[in-house]
Amino acid sequence: MPKNILVTGSSGLIGSEAVSYFDRKGDHVHGIDNNMRRVFFGELGDTTWNLDRLKDIAKNFTHHNLDIRDRIGLEALFREHRFDMIVHCAAQPSHDKARDIPILDFEVNALGTVNLLEATRLHCPEAAFILLSTNKVYGNAPNEVPLKELETRWDYARPEDYHGIDEHCRIDQTLHSLFGASKASADLMAQEYGRYFGMKVCIFRGGCLTGPAHSGVELHGFLSYLVKIAISGGTYKVFGYKAKQVRDNIHSYDVVRAMEEYVNNPRPGEVYNMGGGRENSISMMEAIRKVEEMCGKKLNWEYVEENRKGDHICYISDLRKFKSHYPKWEITVDLDEIFRQIIADYTSRASIAGPL
Ligand SMILES: NC(=O)c1ccc[n+]([C@@H]2O[C@H](COP(=O)([O-])OP(=O)(O)OC[C@H]3O[C@@H](n4cnc5c(N)ncnc54)[C@H](O)[C@@H]3O)[C@@H](O)[C@H]2O)c1
Repeated sequence: MPKNILVTGSSGLIGSEAVSYFDRKGDHVHGIDNNMRRVFFGELGDTTWNLDRLKDIAKNFTHHNLDIRDRIGLEALFREHRFDMIVHCAAQPSHDKARDIPILDFEVNALGTVNLLEATRLHCPEAAFILLSTNKVYGNAPNEVPLKELETRWDYARPEDYHGIDEHCRIDQTLHSLFGASKASADLMAQEYGRYFGMKVCIFRGGCLTGPAHSGVELHGFLSYLVKIAISGGTYKVFGYKAKQVRDNIHSYDVVRAMEEYVNNPRPGEVYNMGGGRENSISMMEAIRKVEEMCGKKLNWEYVEENRKGDHICYISDLRKFKSHYPKWEITVDLDEIFRQIIADYTSRASIAGPL
Protein backbone atom coordinates (compact mmCIF):
# COMPACT_ATOMS: atom_id res chain seq x y z
CA MET A 1 0.00 0.00 0.00
CA PRO A 2 1.37 3.48 -0.82
CA LYS A 3 2.77 5.31 2.14
CA ASN A 4 2.42 8.94 3.13
CA ILE A 5 5.98 10.12 3.71
CA LEU A 6 7.38 13.37 5.05
CA VAL A 7 10.92 14.29 4.03
CA THR A 8 12.57 17.30 5.65
CA GLY A 9 15.46 18.95 3.83
CA SER A 10 13.83 17.65 0.65
CA SER A 11 15.83 19.91 -1.68
CA GLY A 12 19.13 18.73 -0.22
CA LEU A 13 21.29 15.75 -1.14
CA ILE A 14 19.69 13.01 0.95
CA GLY A 15 16.23 14.52 1.13
CA SER A 16 15.91 14.80 -2.66
CA GLU A 17 17.12 11.22 -3.15
CA ALA A 18 14.46 10.08 -0.64
CA VAL A 19 11.77 12.07 -2.46
CA SER A 20 12.59 10.63 -5.87
CA TYR A 21 13.10 7.07 -4.57
CA PHE A 22 9.81 6.83 -2.68
CA ASP A 23 7.95 8.74 -5.38
CA ARG A 24 9.12 6.13 -7.91
CA LYS A 25 7.72 3.43 -5.59
CA GLY A 26 4.30 5.08 -5.78
CA ASP A 27 4.28 6.66 -2.33
CA HIS A 28 2.98 10.16 -1.69
CA VAL A 29 5.88 12.33 -0.55
CA HIS A 30 5.63 15.67 1.21
CA GLY A 31 8.82 17.70 1.38
CA ILE A 32 9.80 20.48 3.75
CA ASP A 33 12.63 22.79 2.69
CA ASN A 34 13.04 26.55 2.97
CA ASN A 35 16.34 26.68 1.02
CA MET A 36 18.20 27.49 4.20
CA ARG A 37 21.34 25.98 2.66
CA ARG A 38 21.58 29.25 0.77
CA VAL A 39 21.43 31.19 4.07
CA PHE A 40 24.26 29.04 5.45
CA PHE A 41 26.53 28.95 2.38
CA GLY A 42 25.44 31.72 0.01
CA GLU A 43 24.57 31.40 -3.65
CA LEU A 44 26.61 28.23 -4.27
CA GLY A 45 24.53 26.44 -1.64
CA ASP A 46 21.24 27.39 -3.28
CA THR A 47 19.08 24.30 -3.73
CA THR A 48 16.41 25.78 -6.00
CA TRP A 49 17.74 23.84 -9.02
CA ASN A 50 17.21 20.60 -7.15
CA LEU A 51 13.68 21.49 -6.08
CA ASP A 52 12.86 22.38 -9.71
CA ARG A 53 14.30 19.04 -10.80
CA LEU A 54 12.12 17.18 -8.27
CA LYS A 55 9.00 19.04 -9.38
CA ASP A 56 9.77 17.92 -12.93
CA ILE A 57 10.41 14.26 -12.25
CA ALA A 58 8.17 13.41 -9.27
CA LYS A 59 4.59 12.33 -9.82
CA ASN A 60 3.19 12.60 -6.34
CA PHE A 61 5.30 15.17 -4.49
CA THR A 62 4.08 18.18 -2.52
CA HIS A 63 6.59 20.79 -1.46
CA HIS A 64 6.14 22.93 1.65
CA ASN A 65 8.31 26.00 2.04
CA LEU A 66 8.45 25.57 5.79
CA ASP A 67 11.11 26.07 8.45
CA ILE A 68 11.53 23.15 10.85
CA ARG A 69 11.98 25.72 13.63
CA ASP A 70 8.38 26.82 13.02
CA ARG A 71 6.43 24.71 15.52
CA ILE A 72 3.09 26.21 14.60
CA GLY A 73 3.62 25.55 10.90
CA LEU A 74 4.65 21.95 11.65
CA GLU A 75 1.64 21.46 13.90
CA ALA A 76 -0.68 22.54 11.07
CA LEU A 77 1.05 20.20 8.59
CA PHE A 78 0.91 17.21 10.95
CA ARG A 79 -2.76 17.91 11.71
CA GLU A 80 -3.60 17.91 8.04
CA HIS A 81 -1.65 14.78 7.00
CA ARG A 82 -1.11 11.50 8.76
CA PHE A 83 2.42 10.35 7.94
CA ASP A 84 3.60 6.72 7.92
CA MET A 85 7.25 7.69 7.77
CA ILE A 86 9.33 10.76 8.54
CA VAL A 87 12.78 11.10 6.99
CA HIS A 88 14.50 13.96 8.77
CA CYS A 89 17.36 15.39 6.70
CA ALA A 90 16.99 19.16 7.20
CA ALA A 91 20.02 20.53 9.02
CA GLN A 92 22.82 23.00 9.27
CA PRO A 93 25.24 20.37 8.00
CA SER A 94 28.68 21.95 8.33
CA HIS A 95 31.20 21.21 11.06
CA ASP A 96 33.07 24.49 10.47
CA LYS A 97 30.15 26.79 9.73
CA ALA A 98 28.57 26.20 13.15
CA ARG A 99 31.19 28.29 14.96
CA ASP A 100 29.91 31.44 13.18
CA ILE A 101 26.23 30.74 13.93
CA PRO A 102 26.04 28.74 17.19
CA ILE A 103 22.48 29.68 18.05
CA LEU A 104 21.06 29.18 14.56
CA ASP A 105 22.96 25.87 14.30
CA PHE A 106 21.49 24.64 17.57
CA GLU A 107 17.98 25.87 16.77
CA VAL A 108 17.94 24.06 13.42
CA ASN A 109 19.78 20.88 14.37
CA ALA A 110 18.67 20.24 17.94
CA LEU A 111 15.40 22.11 18.44
CA GLY A 112 14.21 21.48 14.88
CA THR A 113 14.63 17.74 15.51
CA VAL A 114 12.72 17.87 18.79
CA ASN A 115 9.92 19.82 17.06
CA LEU A 116 9.60 16.99 14.52
CA LEU A 117 9.87 14.17 17.05
CA GLU A 118 7.20 15.75 19.22
CA ALA A 119 4.87 16.45 16.29
CA THR A 120 5.28 12.78 15.32
CA ARG A 121 4.56 11.59 18.87
CA LEU A 122 1.42 13.73 19.09
CA HIS A 123 -0.01 13.08 15.62
CA CYS A 124 1.35 9.82 14.20
CA PRO A 125 3.20 7.88 16.94
CA GLU A 126 3.13 4.69 14.85
CA ALA A 127 5.22 6.28 12.09
CA ALA A 128 8.83 5.28 11.47
CA PHE A 129 11.16 8.24 12.05
CA ILE A 130 14.65 8.30 10.59
CA LEU A 131 17.12 10.91 11.77
CA LEU A 132 20.19 11.66 9.67
CA SER A 133 22.83 12.09 12.33
CA THR A 134 26.57 12.24 11.79
CA ASN A 135 29.86 10.62 12.74
CA LYS A 136 30.78 13.99 14.29
CA VAL A 137 28.71 12.94 17.33
CA TYR A 138 31.83 10.90 18.19
CA GLY A 139 33.81 14.13 18.24
CA ASN A 140 37.48 13.44 17.74
CA ALA A 141 37.36 10.20 19.77
CA PRO A 142 37.96 8.21 16.53
CA ASN A 143 41.36 9.92 16.36
CA GLU A 144 42.38 7.97 19.47
CA VAL A 145 42.43 4.71 17.48
CA PRO A 146 46.09 3.88 16.70
CA LEU A 147 46.96 4.69 13.10
CA LYS A 148 49.71 3.83 10.66
CA GLU A 149 50.89 6.12 7.91
CA LEU A 150 50.86 4.62 4.41
CA GLU A 151 52.12 6.22 1.22
CA THR A 152 48.84 7.91 0.31
CA ARG A 153 46.64 7.52 3.38
CA TRP A 154 46.31 6.98 7.10
CA ASP A 155 44.94 3.60 8.12
CA TYR A 156 44.08 1.78 11.33
CA ALA A 157 47.13 0.09 12.80
CA ARG A 158 45.43 -2.79 14.62
CA PRO A 159 43.73 -5.68 12.79
CA GLU A 160 40.71 -5.44 15.13
CA ASP A 161 40.00 -1.93 13.81
CA TYR A 162 40.03 -3.01 10.15
CA HIS A 163 36.27 -2.57 9.66
CA GLY A 164 36.31 0.91 11.12
CA ILE A 165 34.47 2.76 13.86
CA ASP A 166 31.44 1.07 15.37
CA GLU A 167 28.51 2.42 17.37
CA HIS A 168 30.25 1.81 20.71
CA CYS A 169 32.63 4.68 20.15
CA ARG A 170 31.94 7.16 22.96
CA ILE A 171 30.18 10.43 22.22
CA ASP A 172 31.05 12.07 25.54
CA GLN A 173 34.15 14.01 26.67
CA THR A 174 35.61 14.61 23.26
CA LEU A 175 35.92 17.69 21.02
CA HIS A 176 32.97 17.75 18.63
CA SER A 177 32.72 21.22 17.06
CA LEU A 178 29.47 23.02 17.83
CA PHE A 179 27.88 21.19 14.90
CA GLY A 180 28.84 17.80 16.37
CA ALA A 181 27.36 18.86 19.72
CA SER A 182 24.06 20.12 18.25
CA LYS A 183 23.76 16.93 16.21
CA ALA A 184 24.61 14.82 19.28
CA SER A 185 21.76 16.57 21.14
CA ALA A 186 19.38 15.66 18.32
CA ASP A 187 20.77 12.11 18.20
CA LEU A 188 20.21 11.60 21.94
CA MET A 189 16.71 13.06 21.89
CA ALA A 190 15.80 10.82 18.95
CA GLN A 191 17.14 7.77 20.81
CA GLU A 192 14.99 8.79 23.76
CA TYR A 193 11.82 8.98 21.66
CA GLY A 194 12.67 5.44 20.54
CA ARG A 195 13.65 4.03 23.92
CA TYR A 196 11.45 5.99 26.33
CA PHE A 197 8.32 6.33 24.20
CA GLY A 198 8.89 3.11 22.22
CA MET A 199 8.54 4.92 18.90
CA LYS A 200 10.06 3.48 15.73
CA VAL A 201 12.91 5.94 15.67
CA CYS A 202 16.21 5.14 14.04
CA ILE A 203 19.41 7.13 13.83
CA PHE A 204 21.90 6.95 10.96
CA ARG A 205 25.29 8.36 11.86
CA GLY A 206 26.58 9.35 8.47
CA GLY A 207 30.14 9.20 7.19
CA CYS A 208 30.49 11.18 3.94
CA LEU A 209 27.12 11.09 2.21
CA THR A 210 27.44 12.04 -1.40
CA GLY A 211 26.01 12.03 -4.90
CA PRO A 212 25.19 14.33 -7.80
CA ALA A 213 22.29 16.01 -5.98
CA HIS A 214 24.67 17.81 -3.63
CA SER A 215 24.97 21.59 -3.87
CA GLY A 216 28.63 21.25 -2.88
CA VAL A 217 30.38 24.14 -1.12
CA GLU A 218 33.80 24.47 0.50
CA LEU A 219 32.36 23.94 3.97
CA HIS A 220 30.20 20.93 3.13
CA GLY A 221 30.12 18.13 0.57
CA PHE A 222 33.77 17.32 -0.06
CA LEU A 223 33.62 15.14 -3.18
CA SER A 224 30.99 17.32 -4.79
CA TYR A 225 33.01 20.46 -4.13
CA LEU A 226 36.24 18.81 -5.29
CA VAL A 227 34.65 17.92 -8.63
CA LYS A 228 33.10 21.37 -8.93
CA ILE A 229 36.56 22.98 -8.59
CA ALA A 230 38.09 20.51 -11.04
CA ILE A 231 35.46 21.33 -13.66
CA SER A 232 34.79 25.01 -13.07
CA GLY A 233 38.17 26.21 -11.82
CA GLY A 234 39.31 27.76 -8.54
CA THR A 235 41.55 26.39 -5.82
CA TYR A 236 40.77 23.46 -3.54
CA LYS A 237 42.18 23.79 -0.01
CA VAL A 238 43.34 20.73 1.91
CA PHE A 239 43.65 21.19 5.67
CA GLY A 240 46.42 19.28 7.44
CA TYR A 241 47.12 15.57 8.06
CA LYS A 242 49.52 15.55 5.06
CA ALA A 243 46.47 15.31 2.77
CA LYS A 244 46.17 11.68 3.83
CA GLN A 245 42.93 11.98 5.83
CA VAL A 246 40.50 9.19 4.98
CA ARG A 247 36.74 9.39 4.48
CA ASP A 248 34.26 6.69 3.55
CA ASN A 249 31.71 7.73 0.97
CA ILE A 250 28.22 6.44 0.45
CA HIS A 251 25.94 7.36 -2.42
CA SER A 252 22.64 8.94 -1.37
CA TYR A 253 20.83 6.08 -3.16
CA ASP A 254 22.33 3.48 -0.81
CA VAL A 255 21.39 5.61 2.21
CA VAL A 256 17.78 5.72 1.06
CA ARG A 257 17.76 1.97 0.43
CA ALA A 258 18.87 1.56 4.05
CA MET A 259 15.92 3.71 5.12
CA GLU A 260 13.58 1.45 3.19
CA GLU A 261 15.01 -1.65 4.89
CA TYR A 262 14.45 0.01 8.27
CA VAL A 263 10.88 1.08 7.58
CA ASN A 264 9.97 -2.48 6.51
CA ASN A 265 11.24 -3.85 9.81
CA PRO A 266 11.71 -1.02 12.32
CA ARG A 267 13.59 -1.47 15.60
CA PRO A 268 12.85 1.34 18.07
CA GLY A 269 15.72 3.57 19.17
CA GLU A 270 18.49 1.90 17.12
CA VAL A 271 21.65 3.74 16.15
CA TYR A 272 23.61 2.74 13.02
CA ASN A 273 26.79 4.00 11.47
CA MET A 274 26.05 4.63 7.81
CA GLY A 275 28.85 5.28 5.36
CA GLY A 276 30.63 3.72 2.43
CA GLY A 277 32.70 1.37 4.57
CA ARG A 278 36.26 0.33 3.77
CA GLU A 279 35.60 -0.37 0.08
CA ASN A 280 34.35 3.15 -0.54
CA SER A 281 37.03 4.85 1.52
CA ILE A 282 39.49 7.27 0.00
CA SER A 283 42.08 9.73 1.23
CA MET A 284 42.24 13.35 0.20
CA MET A 285 45.39 12.72 -1.83
CA GLU A 286 43.84 9.71 -3.54
CA ALA A 287 40.63 11.65 -4.27
CA ILE A 288 42.60 14.45 -5.92
CA ARG A 289 44.45 11.93 -8.11
CA LYS A 290 41.23 10.19 -9.05
CA VAL A 291 39.41 13.36 -9.98
CA GLU A 292 42.39 14.52 -12.07
CA GLU A 293 42.49 11.18 -13.83
CA MET A 294 38.76 11.06 -14.48
CA CYS A 295 38.41 14.72 -15.54
CA GLY A 296 41.61 14.56 -17.58
CA LYS A 297 43.08 17.72 -16.06
CA LYS A 298 45.18 18.93 -13.14
CA LEU A 299 43.37 20.19 -10.08
CA ASN A 300 44.56 23.44 -8.58
CA TRP A 301 44.96 22.68 -4.88
CA GLU A 302 46.69 24.23 -1.93
CA TYR A 303 47.90 22.62 1.28
CA VAL A 304 47.15 24.39 4.57
CA GLU A 305 49.28 23.06 7.43
CA GLU A 306 46.67 23.42 10.16
CA ASN A 307 43.97 20.78 10.21
CA ARG A 308 40.31 21.65 10.72
CA LYS A 309 39.56 21.75 14.43
CA GLY A 310 38.27 18.36 15.62
CA ASP A 311 38.56 16.86 12.12
CA HIS A 312 38.87 13.09 11.80
CA ILE A 313 42.19 11.71 10.56
CA CYS A 314 40.88 8.36 9.39
CA TYR A 315 37.19 7.62 9.50
CA ILE A 316 35.67 4.44 8.11
CA SER A 317 32.14 3.46 9.18
CA ASP A 318 31.83 -0.07 10.50
CA LEU A 319 28.67 -1.22 8.74
CA ARG A 320 28.43 -4.63 10.37
CA LYS A 321 25.64 -3.73 12.82
CA PHE A 322 23.29 -2.46 10.12
CA LYS A 323 24.16 -5.38 7.85
CA SER A 324 23.47 -7.88 10.61
CA HIS A 325 20.03 -6.37 11.32
CA TYR A 326 19.23 -5.93 7.60
CA PRO A 327 21.17 -8.63 5.72
CA LYS A 328 19.61 -7.78 2.35
CA TRP A 329 21.22 -4.34 2.34
CA GLU A 330 24.64 -3.71 0.88
CA ILE A 331 26.55 -0.94 -0.86
CA THR A 332 25.57 -0.96 -4.54
CA VAL A 333 27.30 2.19 -5.82
CA ASP A 334 31.08 1.98 -5.73
CA LEU A 335 33.49 4.88 -5.52
CA ASP A 336 34.27 5.05 -9.25
CA GLU A 337 30.58 5.19 -10.07
CA ILE A 338 30.07 7.94 -7.47
CA PHE A 339 32.85 9.98 -9.12
CA ARG A 340 31.45 9.30 -12.60
CA GLN A 341 27.98 10.47 -11.63
CA ILE A 342 29.14 13.65 -9.89
CA ILE A 343 31.45 14.52 -12.80
CA ALA A 344 28.73 13.86 -15.39
CA ASP A 345 26.25 15.98 -13.47
CA TYR A 346 28.57 18.98 -13.07
CA THR A 347 29.69 18.72 -16.66
CA SER A 348 26.12 18.89 -17.91
CA ARG A 349 25.15 21.66 -15.47
CA ALA A 350 28.24 23.68 -16.43
CA SER A 351 27.43 23.33 -20.12
CA ILE A 352 23.90 24.67 -19.50
CA ALA A 353 24.63 27.38 -16.93
CA GLY A 354 28.23 28.35 -17.60
CA PRO A 355 30.77 28.25 -14.73
CA LEU A 356 29.04 27.05 -11.54
N1 LIG B 1 26.42 15.06 3.38
C1 LIG B 1 27.17 14.53 4.31
O1 LIG B 1 28.34 14.25 4.08
C2 LIG B 1 26.59 14.20 5.65
C3 LIG B 1 27.39 13.46 6.54
C4 LIG B 1 26.88 13.10 7.77
C5 LIG B 1 25.59 13.49 8.12
N2 LIG B 1 24.84 14.22 7.24
C6 LIG B 1 23.50 14.64 7.67
O2 LIG B 1 22.55 14.22 6.72
C7 LIG B 1 21.50 15.17 6.63
C8 LIG B 1 21.31 15.57 5.19
O3 LIG B 1 22.53 16.13 4.71
P1 LIG B 1 22.66 16.67 3.23
O4 LIG B 1 24.05 16.43 2.81
O5 LIG B 1 21.53 16.16 2.43
O6 LIG B 1 22.49 18.23 3.51
P2 LIG B 1 21.95 19.35 2.51
O7 LIG B 1 22.44 20.64 3.06
O8 LIG B 1 22.24 18.97 1.10
O9 LIG B 1 20.38 19.27 2.74
C9 LIG B 1 19.74 19.81 3.87
C10 LIG B 1 18.53 20.58 3.40
O10 LIG B 1 17.85 21.08 4.56
C11 LIG B 1 17.35 22.37 4.27
N3 LIG B 1 17.19 23.07 5.54
C12 LIG B 1 18.17 23.51 6.36
N4 LIG B 1 17.64 24.10 7.43
C13 LIG B 1 16.30 24.04 7.28
C14 LIG B 1 15.21 24.49 8.08
N5 LIG B 1 15.42 25.15 9.22
N6 LIG B 1 13.95 24.23 7.66
C15 LIG B 1 13.73 23.57 6.48
N7 LIG B 1 14.74 23.14 5.68
C16 LIG B 1 16.00 23.38 6.08
C17 LIG B 1 18.43 22.99 3.37
O11 LIG B 1 17.92 24.06 2.58
C18 LIG B 1 18.89 21.81 2.53
O12 LIG B 1 18.21 21.73 1.30
C19 LIG B 1 21.87 16.31 7.58
O13 LIG B 1 21.25 16.10 8.80
C20 LIG B 1 23.36 16.15 7.74
O14 LIG B 1 23.83 16.64 8.96
C21 LIG B 1 25.31 14.58 6.02
